[in-house]
Amino acid sequence: MQPRGYEPGPVTRFLAEDHRCLEQLLQTACASADHVAREAYDHFRAGLLRHIGMEEKILLPAAQRWNGGKPLSIAAKLRLDHGALAALLMPTPTTLIVATLCRILEQHNLAEESPDGWYDICDRLAAAEADQLVTRLRATPKVAVLPHSDTAAVLSAVHRALERAGYALDSDSR
Ligand SMILES: [Fe+2]
Ligand SMILES: [Fe+2]
Repeated sequence: MQPRGYEPGPVTRFLAEDHRCLEQLLQTACASADHVAREAYDHFRAGLLRHIGMEEKILLPAAQRWNGGKPLSIAAKLRLDHGALAALLMPTPTTLIVATLCRILEQHNLAEESPDGWYDICDRLAAAEADQLVTRLRATPKVAVLPHSDTAAVLSAVHRALERAGYALDSDSR
């Protein structure tokens, strides 16, 4: 629940709305218990990669600039989470991969969207530049997705990226 008097700024509103669109796509992709709907999942993959690109290529560098050239303390963890999320998009989506994605996204999005979270910090640092920043974010082009790969090298990269960010695949964590 948001504290009384909290008004999300332009950056928070724009990126939180993108989170909702991505959640909707993932929900559509996983509507059936026994298989993942590939077309919706591909839209989700492309959308999540674009979203991560907006944060990594535009928002994190801008926040660092506004912060006097120093990366925000949360930046390293955000980048590790993005690495884990992007890695999970590489293999064919199994129910365990999708469950792991949902779990990480839920925590990650909360850390970004909550009052005093990363987006709120960016809105406060951006101040008068916030609307201009949203225009740049909005102009980010679509991302093309590569075919899935389930090679041993890819699967081990997924495990390593998850481990670096402090997570494990759902099957590993039970
Ligand atoms: Fe993010
Ligand atoms: Fe995000």
